[in-house]
Parts: sequence; structure tokens; C-alpha cells
Amino acid sequence: MSKTYNIALLPGDGTGPEVVREGKKVISAAADKYGFKLNFEEFDFGGDRYLRTGEILPDSASEQLKKFDSIFLGAIGHPDVKPGILEKGILLRLRFELDQYINLRPIKLYPGVGTPLKDKGPEHIDYVVVRENTGGIYTGIGGISQKGTPHEVAIQSMVYNRMQVERCLRYAFEYTKKRNKKNTLALCGKTNVLTYVYDLWERAFHEVGKADYPEIKREYYHVDATVMWMVKNPEWFDVIVTGNMFGDIITDLGAITQGGMGIAAGGNINPEGVSMFEPIGGSAPKYTGKNVINPLASIACGAMMLDHLGEGKAAIAVENAIMDITAHKLKDMGAGRMGFSTTEVGDLVAERV
Ligand code: IPM
Ligand code: MN
Repeated sequence: MSKTYNIALLPGDGTGPEVVREGKKVISAAADKYGFKLNFEEFDFGGDRYLRTGEILPDSASEQLKKFDSIFLGAIGHPDVKPGILEKGILLRLRFELDQYINLRPIKLYPGVGTPLKDKGPEHIDYVVVRENTGGIYTGIGGISQKGTPHEVAIQSMVYNRMQVERCLRYAFEYTKKRNKKNTLALCGKTNVLTYVYDLWERAFHEVGKADYPEIKREYYHVDATVMWMVKNPEWFDVIVTGNMFGDIITDLGAITQGGMGIAAGGNINPEGVSMFEPIGGSAPKYTGKNVINPLASIACGAMMLDHLGEGKAAIAVENAIMDITAHKLKDMGAGRMGFSTTEVGDLVAERV
């Protein structure tokens, strides 16, 4: 009997449904080819549902989602909803409640895709950022007092405990070992100013590395230097591990160096639970329904999800198919500038799988 995976589909807002449709098309083709089954069940969480019902996310959502093998998400963000509400109320809430403590973001320039980095090609831009995904400033601890007065005070704390830091570092070491490229893990921190939080990170980094991963080379970069080298010498990097806020910022820089939001994929991973795969880009409301948005990020998320489910061969096939069309078919990566519609890009990749 062939294996069946149950996938929760969260198309979300804006162009989310269009890209998810293509992602689903491609991974379904991979499932047929490699002899496993994907069962999809759709959930309508997002801005439209919120505007219709007043409910951001049902309290039962994470319990329901925990029953699935994986979650495949399009995009969250609606032009008629104040920024922050859906992001915090859906995306961040799911990351926290499902304890998806890793945000895995590969920065890989596919052949044929333009990068703003001068004299750099696919041989230079191929590394992975492991972003801690449930702690740090994102914990939301803080407050405002005397609001609206000249004495107003606002605090938002960067909070980490040893367990959170260590489980993230262990994941990053394991990932680096499994990736087996340069066997180098770089910690991105700010030990010269954030002398408490990144001191904890740095000590844990060397302790865990020394004790359990002596074969993995350890490097340290301050975050400000990290972004400089990501532009100047991206080929130095193999795997970068960092806290939540720095990880958020540096992966947008990384995404633009790999061709932008139409390409960049990511996974919110709970290594012991249910993970959620999601393009780094947003819901791009102005392109909604036009069938022009680039679905490759969602398709690449599909490949990451298949790999995570243990279907490594199918994942590689999807990624190879993506690279085949970026190298030989697509003109440019921006929405409406690919030379093909959203649907056609999905068809092209699916055919090659
Ligand atoms: C991301 C996004 C989110 C984040 C926002 C939408 C809350 O920027 O996934 O990188 O800050 O994590
Ligand atoms: Mn971000």
C-alpha cells in the first residue's frame, strides 16, 4: 500500500490561493510519480474570513492542525485589515502554538535567475539560514506606559532561555551535518552590545558544538557584519544560525539576493511535531486574481515539505524541475514579468516532474 500524507492547505490572502494552487499541482504530480498519496484539506484562515466573521483564528485551529502531517500555507495579509492583526493573530500564533521553533530559509540562487549581487552566480549563493522562530523579541513581552505624553515609555524585551537556544543550535548543527557541504555553522549575533542574550547564544553554541559536533566548524559573525558579507562574499556561508529578529531581517536580504519574493521559500519547523511551509513573500494584494504572480516560492516550499515528510527523491525532482525552467524558460522573476502566467509556470514545473 502506498503511503498517504494528510496536508492542511491554508491558501490565505491575496495571491496566496493562486500560488498554493500551483504548489499543490506540482507536489501532486511528484506524488503520482514517486508512488505516494497527498490528501488535502483546506482551511479559510485569513483576512476575508476575519472581515466576514470577526474571528481571527478559531481557538480550535492548532489542535485541528496538529492532526495533519504538514501544513501548506500561501500568504497572510489583507489590505483592509490593520497591519499586525493577521500576522500576530494567525501566523505568529500558529508558529507559537505549534511550537515551530525553527524557521528554515534556504538562500539559493537558481540558474537563470537574476541577482542584484555583482559578479555572483548560483555557485556563490547557496546557503541556509536557521532562524530561531518562537523566542526573542517576538515573545511580545513588554508594554507601554504614559502613552501619548512626553514621558511615554515603551519596552519590548529580547527574551531567551537556555532550552530555546540550545534546541535551535542542535537543530542547526544536525542540519549542517546532514547537508554535508562545507560543514560550517556560523552563529550570527551581537555579542558586543547584546551582552546577555548573545552571550548565552555564544556559550551554548561552543559548548554544544565542542561536545557533540566536533566535526562541524564553528564561526561567529556580528549581525551587522553578517549582512555585509552576505552581499560581498555570500560563498563563505554554509549554514547560519541566529535569533528570531536578526533571522527575520537577514533572510529578507538573502531573499533578494536569490531573486526576490517570487522565489524564496521557507519552513516553520517543529522537528517533533507538525511543520508549516510558507513562502517568505507576502500576499501581494495588487496582483490578486491576475494570474501573474510567480508561484516558484510556493512550489519550492512544496519541495521542502516533501523532503521534510521523508520523500527526499520527490523533493529533489521538484527542485530539479524548478531549476530546469529557471535556466531555460523563464525570462525574469518579478510578477507579470516571467513571460508566463502563474498557471503556466505551475504546468511547466509539473510536466518536468
Ligand atoms: C516573516 C514575516 C513575519 C515575521 C511577519 C509577517 C510577522 O516577516 O515570516 O519573515 O516577522 O516573522
Ligand atoms: Mn520577515
